[in-house]
Amino acid sequence: MAKISTIGILTSGGDAPGMNAAIRAVTRAAIFNGWKVKGIYRGYEGLINNEIKDFTSESVSNTIQRGGTVLKTARSDEFMTVEGRQKAYDNMKANNIDALIVIGGNGSLAGAQVFAQEHDVPCIGLPGTIDNDLYGTDSTIGYDTALNTIVECVDKIRDTATSHDRIFFVEVMGRDAGFLAQNSAIAAGAEAAIIPEDQTDVDQLGQFISRGFRKSKNSSIVIVSESKKDGGAMYYANRVRNEYPQYDVRVTILGHLQRGGKPSAVDRILASRLGVAAIEALNEGQRNVMIGISNDRIVYVPFSKAIKIDKPIDKELINVLNVLSI
Ligand code: F6P
Repeated sequence: MAKISTIGILTSGGDAPGMNAAIRAVTRAAIFNGWKVKGIYRGYEGLINNEIKDFTSESVSNTIQRGGTVLKTARSDEFMTVEGRQKAYDNMKANNIDALIVIGGNGSLAGAQVFAQEHDVPCIGLPGTIDNDLYGTDSTIGYDTALNTIVECVDKIRDTATSHDRIFFVEVMGRDAGFLAQNSAIAAGAEAAIIPEDQTDVDQLGQFISRGFRKSKNSSIVIVSESKKDGGAMYYANRVRNEYPQYDVRVTILGHLQRGGKPSAVDRILASRLGVAAIEALNEGQRNVMIGISNDRIVYVPFSKAIKIDKPIDKELINVLNVLSI
């Protein structure tokens, strides 16, 4: 196995609060280990375009508390091509980078997997996405912060919903995963969550209206997971307007504010632990795995599992919301 003396680090895909804490942890752990670190800007795009800088311990000072990613990020179409990955590999070699640490979500780790196979490059992934949709880790970096942001927003919406006796459909991110919707609904005391994992032929909306919006409850909050399939919160709001015209309905789409802000302590600690573990994993000879956390223990999850296996939502969470929203 080739000796590692320099690692490259990049963030890719949608940014997530805590990515900076992860960059800091990886950088400092690598330097602690006697390795050199190169920061690669704008994800795989930066690797293709040679946007690479030497990183020192000071490069990551004063960043643990900042949202976003100091390395910037991108979704690279060129890296999806064989030619793009060849350019990326050539730049890696030109910069003497022996191994790559990729912080990102599903698409980013899928990119790392293909790259590692094609060019025999040691790659380690860190789960960085607010969606929490990577299999094999209990939580992804950014998820806890985004969840807290959503809950803070929904608490505010609740004030105005109550004052006006309105139903609010609040749309949250998550791409194809309902973790943000389900758990923010529980934490904010919402009346229902509409998530992709729980869609049945049963009319969820009718169920909610007949059950949740009872006489003593004049306002309601429904958290809706964004979904390409059915159009998200707007779709449900329009249906209620048509089918139950007696209700005063509003929609709030929280959008990208869910991705910003200072990372929570939970995300900073998670990112720090995963970052240190990534360097230990490389040192132990691990290749092409995502570092995750399961039952508070560091785990190595092969890329093939992390990105291919669907991470299920615990049915218990669905039950908790159902029971508590009577
Ligand atoms: O994967 C993170 C995420 O925020 C998803 O929840 C959302 O669907 C998507 O990224 C939005 O992507 P973009 O910032 O490119 O619009």
